[in-house]
Amino acid sequence: MEIKKNLTPAPKAKPADESKLGFGHVFTDHMLIMPYDTGKGWHDPEIVPYGNISISPAAMCLHYGQTVFEGMKAYRTADNKIQLFRPEENFKRLNKSNERLVIPELPVDLAMQCLRELLEVDKDWVPTLDGTSLYIRPFIVAVDPFLGVRPGDQYLFMIVLSPSGAYYASGLNPVSIYVEDKYVRAVRGGMGFAKTGGNYAASLHSQDDAHKLNYSQVLWLDGVEQKYIEEVGAMNIFFVIDGEVVTPSLDAGSILGGITRKSTVELCKSWGMKVSERRISIQEVADAYDAGKLQEVFGTGTAAVISPVGHLKWGDKVMEINNNEIGPISQKIYDTLTGIQWGKVEDTFGWTVEL
Ligand code: PLP
Ligand code: COI
Repeated sequence: MEIKKNLTPAPKAKPADESKLGFGHVFTDHMLIMPYDTGKGWHDPEIVPYGNISISPAAMCLHYGQTVFEGMKAYRTADNKIQLFRPEENFKRLNKSNERLVIPELPVDLAMQCLRELLEVDKDWVPTLDGTSLYIRPFIVAVDPFLGVRPGDQYLFMIVLSPSGAYYASGLNPVSIYVEDKYVRAVRGGMGFAKTGGNYAASLHSQDDAHKLNYSQVLWLDGVEQKYIEEVGAMNIFFVIDGEVVTPSLDAGSILGGITRKSTVELCKSWGMKVSERRISIQEVADAYDAGKLQEVFGTGTAAVISPVGHLKWGDKVMEINNNEIGPISQKIYDTLTGIQWGKVEDTFGWTVEL
């Protein structure tokens, strides 16, 4: 499909100090926008100057949350190439979210073409400082001006780009996490596996409670018994217990299947480590801690990368993990994964895609 380009006559100044980027504050010069209409399909993709869009106040996404999104990154390598990490996995997952939210499928090839052409236009915005990247946010929203509850007939697919640094202010220093035993995020049969706004809306109250106690994120338990561990607000979770690397399995459909999670499992297996995707209860974690067998805990995510967990609070019990320091397994995964992403470590898996 041909992508029309209406480029800005007035490009913005790039951030002067990349060490102060933070996450998600700065946007590039352009964005991609492509409408969908029933009967016509996806049509007329266009790259336009980054800016506000106009939708009806009755647009369905504003009322009933028919939205999906993705999160991925473009990395600048030392030899000044730009590469993506498993981008097709993100667009396949977008389609899983679409299916759950009754949003029309977006062909992966078309999504990739949109992304590549947008990046080609704004590639100078991919930052250069160590640990920084261009965060990519593709999303789809229903925009029919209609107050009844039904799936939309009109959608917008958009991609915006944001040069970013670390997601957590603490960087690679361990984060403190609070185990939520009051609210739940998702249940079997719900939409926990989809990347849709409602899941994040469901998380806000707990996140606010956690912040008040100086914890940076919430660890969710299953929505039925509140016994089994699911995931963290913006990352999947791993435990190293007596040499076994454990992460909750995805079968209940209540956890987002992270691409960093999948890559971590594949990396650990390639190193011959014992890796299990299985049910794990918070009690098992507490028992392992008491027995001195809980070696490491870390989260995985595109924004969070590999994020060691230094404290885990469950009710009155506060577990300090590995003396609140990053452990050797988390460090090895971090070094290898980021090494592959930034082109410093040979990518024997074929995960990276050059722009
Ligand atoms: N879980 C949630 C709820 C997330 O928002 C994210 C971030 O995308 C992840 C897990 C990690 O997924 P990925 O590794 O694909 O970024
Ligand atoms: C990501 O890691 O890409 C995410 O989407 C996390 C986000 C909710 C900030």
